[in-house]
Amino acid sequence: MRRPVRIAITGAAGAISNSLLFQLADGSMMGDDQPVILQLIEMPERMEALRGLAMELEDCAFPLLHTITLHDNVEEGFNNAHYAILIGARPRGPGMERRDLLEVNAEIFTRQGKALNDHANRDVKVLVVGNPANTNALIASRNAPRLSPSQFTALTRLDHNRAKGILANHTGANPQDIDGIIVWGNHSTTQFPDLHHARVLGEPVLNQIDDGWYKNEFIPRVQTRGGQIIQARGVSSAASAAQAVIHHMRDWVLGTPSGQVVSMGIVSDGSYGITKGIFYSFPVRCNYGRYQIVRGLQLNDFSLQMMKTTETELLEEKAAVEHLLPAETAASH
Ligand code: LMR
Repeated sequence: MRRPVRIAITGAAGAISNSLLFQLADGSMMGDDQPVILQLIEMPERMEALRGLAMELEDCAFPLLHTITLHDNVEEGFNNAHYAILIGARPRGPGMERRDLLEVNAEIFTRQGKALNDHANRDVKVLVVGNPANTNALIASRNAPRLSPSQFTALTRLDHNRAKGILANHTGANPQDIDGIIVWGNHSTTQFPDLHHARVLGEPVLNQIDDGWYKNEFIPRVQTRGGQIIQARGVSSAASAAQAVIHHMRDWVLGTPSGQVVSMGIVSDGSYGITKGIFYSFPVRCNYGRYQIVRGLQLNDFSLQMMKTTETELLEEKAAVEHLLPAETAASH
């Protein structure tokens, strides 16, 4: 049996975590031979709910669940963590724009970045789920100068999976027969779900769907799906977000199935002309615990324009929190 790995999770008593933890403890994320120690973190007033959740986890008697520890602060909860899944954030309610949340969440992710820097394992892999995820990842990373920005990622796999699910439904294809979907940019309504490189059973998708449907229905539907779910349920997506977390981390740690392309919010290295240093969703392949941007894709004017729009929003988000960011150090890049 392998040595257990430590996985810290914030917002651990919340709805996304409620779906996530049971799959994680059952081996779906790290593989079915990898024991896990769960370091669950919540706000002090949520600790009772967290205790109840921990009891339920224990009652499942998962063979891979080595230990559960409960924490009401990130400094303790991130201790020696190999993985950190940052779900806790001030949530968005109906009618509220993600941008409104920038300032409140900046404070939360500043503290979390510092705590990761000071307490987590040197090689910790971080996934930011709490919105605005891309900019929260930027804030956390900039507050963790001892860690590389490449250790921080933001969740856009939910958007990637949404695009795949909606396309599968429209074409009648099985989702597993679709490859090459790309979500570029921000986890927000400006994201660009790009089908120009997507194939169903090897055949280009754009030959099989109407251009009007792609541009006027598919793209806005994927872009606004999070808001539509909030309207319908009164609360954010939870089970599908948890599933996306599993996919994101599993691929990052264990590798993407051969040749497959997935979308991850990562620090831009300037690829495809995107401003260096912002957290932007790119097409990647993963192996040996690292992600690599898929290079050399041909982009038409429509795509370049869409990519620019979402980049501009991320630059605006960055400008809105710039006064809270510590100066960039040479060590952080
Ligand atoms: C989602 O995409 O479902 C979430 O990010 C909800 C939100 O606040 O947009």
